[in-house]
Amino acid sequence: MRVTHLAVAAFLALPLAVTTASAGPGPAPLPFSISSVLPAPAEAIPGSESFGLTRDTVITAGGPAAPIAEQLAAAWRPATGFALPVAADPQNSAIRIGLDARMSGEAYRLGVDRDQVELTAGSLKGLFNGVQTLRQLLPPEIESATIQKGPWTIPGGVINDKPRFAYRGAMLDLARHFHTPDEVKRYIDQISRFKINFLHLHLSDDQGWRIQIDSWPRLTTVGGAKGTGVRGLGGGFLTKNDYRDLVDYAAQRYVTIVPEIDMPGHVNAAQVAYPELTCDGVAPRPRIDIRVGYSSLCAGKEITYRFAEDVIRELAAMTPGPFLHIGGDEAHSTPHADYLSFQQRVLPLVGKYRKTAIGWQEIAAVRTDAIVQYWNHQAPLETTQRVIMSPADRAYLDMQYDLLTPGGLHWAGTTEVRDSYSWDPGTLLSGVPEELVFGVEAPLWSETLTDLAEIEFLAFPRLVAIADIGWSRKSDWDSFKMRLGAYGPRWTRQGVHFYSSPQIPWS
Ligand code: ACM
Repeated sequence: MRVTHLAVAAFLALPLAVTTASAGPGPAPLPFSISSVLPAPAEAIPGSESFGLTRDTVITAGGPAAPIAEQLAAAWRPATGFALPVAADPQNSAIRIGLDARMSGEAYRLGVDRDQVELTAGSLKGLFNGVQTLRQLLPPEIESATIQKGPWTIPGGVINDKPRFAYRGAMLDLARHFHTPDEVKRYIDQISRFKINFLHLHLSDDQGWRIQIDSWPRLTTVGGAKGTGVRGLGGGFLTKNDYRDLVDYAAQRYVTIVPEIDMPGHVNAAQVAYPELTCDGVAPRPRIDIRVGYSSLCAGKEITYRFAEDVIRELAAMTPGPFLHIGGDEAHSTPHADYLSFQQRVLPLVGKYRKTAIGWQEIAAVRTDAIVQYWNHQAPLETTQRVIMSPADRAYLDMQYDLLTPGGLHWAGTTEVRDSYSWDPGTLLSGVPEELVFGVEAPLWSETLTDLAEIEFLAFPRLVAIADIGWSRKSDWDSFKMRLGAYGPRWTRQGVHFYSSPQIPWS
């Protein structure tokens, strides 16, 4: 049955009560403190004072920090109606944003008292992280697109924050159903609020090919045509300009795009477009079902490697980020010896075009320096390579919450919010010590997903659970569920179609 937007909407009992700081004599009690943030800061020390944002507040930021300050001001202007000018002069400011050479990486420090808010970091990325925290410290009405009453009070204290893992990813499958650049941008807007710093785009699969490759044009004219996708719905692809625009949009939110072309399996769409990529040269039929494991590139043909190199070269040229994902999963119809010889030739091509390869966990069979992405929770993994953790029974956002919630699949079981939160990437696998864990990623496969409301319903709130685990060393369900519950009214204000899990005390 097609899962419709209406079906999703019918299941959403969106919490409507919005907590406000009430006006009245004396300072209003704040509904949250400096430690209510998602993901949990490494250190948050509440203070006794709070800062009131007014129509006279000025934000100061020198030189390179100015665009970050401008992002903050732009986020706060619609609901406050305040001008919030960004100035370079640090004298008369109440909110100061600046770089501090003694700090490094993604870390930031935020101090709030009665007189000022001071945000410092060693990099613009760190400042961006601090801004995401700061945005959660004003009440949920700040998310409104129209002027709200306020008051706009930021709880006081000090946050010293930095991430546990360098890689905190989300993945979106554009192959099973194409999602438009605008939908991908809305997803980037949301994930970046939780300090997710990589977006992996699954750009090819049996049902469709979604990225323009000039040297093999039929990949998109045929493989991305109307009707390519599960159930023959949708179709479409990213032109190189679309892709570069997405890369830029993501970069402004400190999100790096990781493109994936899945090989040697999951290639039916490419073989429909170019039958010479099969061993027998016969074109397969287009596929609109969700079976896996039946297609394979032909390891014994030279054209296979010309194809792989052309795709990798063009993809690397349009990708400023350091990583290129080459899939490698579920190649059930590739003989094992062929799989090994294919990967031994193709993995080095990624390095030739100056990218680091990532592959699904099956590539751990090949000894390289590629990063391994763990996904199959039923298959043990032992490796000396770096690992991104995406266990399907915890981190796959397309698993149903329970058997009655719409959208998604349940081949790895059902995954309520608590299941997605309650695991430790550093100790999950006895064969992967914490030093090798590069980070976490929450993949969202699109077999059942045609529009943004359906994407949002599966991603939120579980994406936040993975973001919290990836950022924070603390593991405390009671704290997480309270922080998440307090976040709900923000999504409501933004029109995000989140799942109001019965496990969460929504405000
Ligand atoms: C996968 O879920 N086949 C990576």
